[in-house]
Amino acid sequence: MLDSSNARRQRTALVAGGAGFVGSHLCDELLAAGNRVICVDSYLTGSPANVAPLQNHPDFNMIEHDICNPLVFAEHVDQIYNLACPASPPLYQADPIHTMMTNVIGTANLLQLAARHGASFLQASTSEVYGDPEEHPQHEDYWGHVNCTGPRACYDEGKRAAEALCFDSLRAGDVDARVVRIFNTYGPRMQPNDGRIVSNLIVQALRDEPLTIYGNGAQTRSFCYVSDLVDGLTRLMNVQPNPAVPVNIGNPGEFTIAELADMVCAMLPTRSRVLNGPLPADDPQRRRPDIARARELLGWEPKISLDDGLSRTIAWFQHALLEQARHQNPGTSAKVARAAGSSQGI
Ligand SMILES: NC(=O)c1ccc[n+]([C@@H]2O[C@H](COP(=O)([O-])OP(=O)(O)OC[C@H]3O[C@@H](n4cnc5c(N)ncnc54)[C@H](O)[C@@H]3O)[C@@H](O)[C@H]2O)c1
Repeated sequence: MLDSSNARRQRTALVAGGAGFVGSHLCDELLAAGNRVICVDSYLTGSPANVAPLQNHPDFNMIEHDICNPLVFAEHVDQIYNLACPASPPLYQADPIHTMMTNVIGTANLLQLAARHGASFLQASTSEVYGDPEEHPQHEDYWGHVNCTGPRACYDEGKRAAEALCFDSLRAGDVDARVVRIFNTYGPRMQPNDGRIVSNLIVQALRDEPLTIYGNGAQTRSFCYVSDLVDGLTRLMNVQPNPAVPVNIGNPGEFTIAELADMVCAMLPTRSRVLNGPLPADDPQRRRPDIARARELLGWEPKISLDDGLSRTIAWFQHALLEQARHQNPGTSAKVARAAGSSQGI
């Protein structure tokens, strides 16, 4: 039976980081489900283009703001999703102190906002809290293996501190806080040049450039399509009672980076060859989520295979690169667009 009070009143969700890759898909989904959405983003790594189609939606409100500064809203907020933080290693390492502050001060600011509004809170944490894991696959009870002084620490340790803030706020009875640990996610609207493995390989293959693989490509990752992730986020935000434990969301299919490169090459008419580069410091060797908890508590299961998700993502990048080149040079053919993308660093 429907709860008539909730059924009648439209819910307002605040999405911090809503102009980013995942956040913009979440905004789409929340609006489609009839929510009002307030998107808060500094555009540090997100893009106005990601939310441009929403700007005229009557239930969408965009606020440009850095969450390291406190937020005050007169309008009541029912739910807060905190996705604000760069996710790509080169980008979160570009200003590591700001990354740490975004995770600690920014999360504290949003938790305070949630406490004032009595809003539920979902923190986007990460599989990086497991570091270079000594347990495989990674279950939520594993405490992790993180180098707290290395170049990735601003992100890994920042996210671990944010988790601690969430669980302290929950234990104190201040906020209905929930924590999701997201494993590698990919799909349309990834920034072509942000240094993540899936977008890197696809864009390099589209441009016939060498496919950069760090190390020998034997390291593994699990790749989750963005619509599956968004489904997991909304389920965790709405499940009752609050599970009060972190929940992994990721696709348990495990692939080496070399296998991923082979799949991309098989889907594209590319002349690209693999170029092996040095392995970055503290790069995890194996990654695969144990999703038993998400299955049991949320009834969640990923639906999109890597084959299917990659072909959707490739189609999106093909279109995006062509549109950008056409915009800059009307009448551009696909071949010219590819060359233009290469020379303009798209
Ligand atoms: N995509 C993944 O594979 C993945 C994996 C694990 C965790 N996550 C987490 O999910 C969230 C979203 O990731 P994404 O892939 O969409 O990354 P993204 O970089 O595309 O999006 C992050 C968004 O946050 C905004 N932002 C960053 N710092 C901010 C600040 N101080 N104030 C306001 N806005 C700020 C950026 O402008 C951007 O729009 C991040 O918190 C990330 O740590 C993502």
